[in-house]
Amino acid sequence: MAPAPDSAAPAATDQTVAEIIRSRQHLPGALLPILHGIQDALGHVPPEVVPDIAQALNLSRAEVHGVVSYYHHFRSAPAGAQVLQVCRAEACQAMGAQALWQHACTRLGLQAAGTTADGAVTLEPVYCLGLCASSPAVALDGQVQGRVGPARLDALLNRPREAACP
Ligand code: FES
Repeated sequence: MAPAPDSAAPAATDQTVAEIIRSRQHLPGALLPILHGIQDALGHVPPEVVPDIAQALNLSRAEVHGVVSYYHHFRSAPAGAQVLQVCRAEACQAMGAQALWQHACTRLGLQAAGTTADGAVTLEPVYCLGLCASSPAVALDGQVQGRVGPARLDALLNRPREAACP
């Protein structure tokens, strides 16, 4: 019997995760390099890989989960098609980042950080994008923008996405 069309995906994911763990588990402070490697490869750190990481590093699952959930950088679920990060650190807060965050939530129909129901946009808080002198700052798909008010945020989200290189 032929395998289901998507049955290779979990196996490929398992293999990718196993290779990342194997290649980094002997590094000093291996947990963060492993988590970065997995997120770089998969776009998130699936909860089901936490036991494998814990076992490889002789940590508890709670310890690994605690690190994944502590750092805003790590996602436990796949991101939306676009990722909007709104800086919520001090300089941006002083320049209206809280109102900008609320606007983003309203615009995207979210109560808090997360991904829209249609998977179009993931909204995330970040704590300094290095553009404090031009706050409030956001990053859309990794492109940092300064002096972003609600209207500019709407324009950024309305902008057609750049086509990928062939
Ligand atoms: S505080 Fe927002 S970019 Fe630095």
